Amino acid sequence: MNRPEDIDLLEKAAAATTNAHAPYSGFQVGAAVETDDGTVFVGCNVENASYGLTMCAERTAIFSAVAEGHRSFARIAVVASGDTLPYPCGACRQVLSEFCDDDMKVLVAAADNLEDYKTVTLGDLLPHAFRLEKP
Ligand code: THU
Repeated sequence: MNRPEDIDLLEKAAAATTNAHAPYSGFQVGAAVETDDGTVFVGCNVENASYGLTMCAERTAIFSAVAEGHRSFARIAVVASGDTLPYPCGACRQVLSEFCDDDMKVLVAAADNLEDYKTVTLGDLLPHAFRLEKP
């Protein structure tokens, strides 16, 4: 069932797709991560002529939040241009697992059809995540 607060976060992620630097793939992705205190940070994918240096939207958003002193997250929304559902890549799943519990909600949607978003948990996406005790 659609929740208004989910749509709100998805709309912020959709807005961030417009800042994507994706001249090589043409695949524009936006992410919006909500911290436990309700602050929202956005990110977009940032590609590079040296392809391997590309940064995904999810990591851009998480790293931006961490850089501003936030380390506890409630939800992340990920939206891609067109009709593809942008489930986070393996690298992003591992980065999310550094800061988020398995029950963290991950919302994914295609920009053309935000209302048809899917909700999964980080644990669904990355079972048996590798984590170390934080000192
Ligand atoms: N990408 C993301 O930003 N997030 C994802 O979840 C999947 C892929 C980006 C990386 C690259 O710029 C483009 O999408 C195609 O892989």
